[in-house]
Amino acid sequence: MTMWFAQWEVLLPGAILYLYFVKRFRFYRSETMPSRLGYTNRKAFSRMTVEDAWKIHNFLVEFEFPTIFSTATMFALFKAYGIPSISSLLCMTGQFSSKDTVDKRYTDTGCLLLEAVLNPPASPRAIEAIARINYLHSTYRATGKITDADMLYTLSLFALEPSRWVAKYEWRELTSLEKCAVGTLWKRLGDALGVNFDLLPGSREGLGRWGGVAGTTGQLESRVPGCSHGARTYEQEGCRRDFVPHCVEATNEIQAHRKADSRGDSGGKASRSYDSYLTFIRTFNSIRKFVLLRLTLPRVRPKKRLPIAASSGRIHARRYNIQPWYVKPTIVSRCGPAAWRTWLQGGVLPGDQGDKYFPQGFIASELGPTTLRECGKEKMEAERQRLESELTSEIGKCPFLAQERDQSGLC
Ligand code: HEM
Repeated sequence: MTMWFAQWEVLLPGAILYLYFVKRFRFYRSETMPSRLGYTNRKAFSRMTVEDAWKIHNFLVEFEFPTIFSTATMFALFKAYGIPSISSLLCMTGQFSSKDTVDKRYTDTGCLLLEAVLNPPASPRAIEAIARINYLHSTYRATGKITDADMLYTLSLFALEPSRWVAKYEWRELTSLEKCAVGTLWKRLGDALGVNFDLLPGSREGLGRWGGVAGTTGQLESRVPGCSHGARTYEQEGCRRDFVPHCVEATNEIQAHRKADSRGDSGGKASRSYDSYLTFIRTFNSIRKFVLLRLTLPRVRPKKRLPIAASSGRIHARRYNIQPWYVKPTIVSRCGPAAWRTWLQGGVLPGDQGDKYFPQGFIASELGPTTLRECGKEKMEAERQRLESELTSEIGKCPFLAQERDQSGLC
């Protein structure tokens, strides 16, 4: 009995102290960020540099919301695939027609995006990735197969979707400063990718400026027959659907059953399973929010997302979905928990099947369809030089400020 009391005498104050630290530090970094970086009011936001935007964005990706940011970006990609003009072009390229190409296409897209967004804005790695994306787009842009509206819409999804997901599923919303940083960073990437922002109304900073895009996004999405549209287009065109997230497939299936319900074909079973599915998701999410907000200290070590550069100059992917493209074979990648899961599912491990999945890593200029692997060196070099001068010039520091100066005739 005395022993039991002695344990509680230590445990109870310990638990109270822990909860106090959670309360004290959960919001500490986001609340002190404006004064630490010198952006204490909205006027200061409009002077935000791309470097600061990148630092804040990386803080969100690696410390505050790693899971939601990467899931939302994956869904942004999937949503873009749902637009008829985009899905039909992607099917036409043939990259979605076999299991190997579809996984490689998905991995290459992820690697190039991570390289372009998570590396410092004017760094050689970021520039190399943007130059490669521009090269891969160049023929389609020149022939009008990739339109300005589709580019703006896709970019807006990357810029807006993570903040929407955070607002819906996370333990707090993005602050105004964080929204400004996300908007500033994606605006800069849009400029580098040649996105035409003239289609945009409004003149506020950061994500606020993306309000106009959000409207456009909504209009475009309302023209899409439903979230399963992308998947259906790919199916009709003989393309694979491996990239369709499982939960979307599950929701589609339940919706199909619900339609059967409304016709009276399944005795109301589907509506019940849909309701219990929603209840499960909502309960899980509420518990997750509560645990993170009240019981968990903020992340101390970053959840690294950026691919890893090797001394050879090649770059390794950190994780893989179906096939281990560009993943370095190590004891952890071949014997760790992820490897066991892959092995149980009958998948391929890093280093299996010789060089098929490039265990030696990638360089950005090799990414994209296999037929273009050795192509585009000269065009990319010219693009690299253009981007270098654009991204390092004084006017390139804050894209929104530069625009304002132009409009007011100050420069
Ligand atoms: C800002 C928006 C966009 C970004 C950030 C982006 C990003 C990328 C990336 C990273 C790749 C390389 C993929 C690979 O390695 O195969 C790529 C290739 C490509 N993208 Fe985009 N993209 C954007 C908009 C679009 C739009 C709107 C379309 C179509 C209407 C499009 C069509 C293509 C095509 C056809 C390829 C060539 C690769 C292939 O043949 O499959 N992209 N894009």
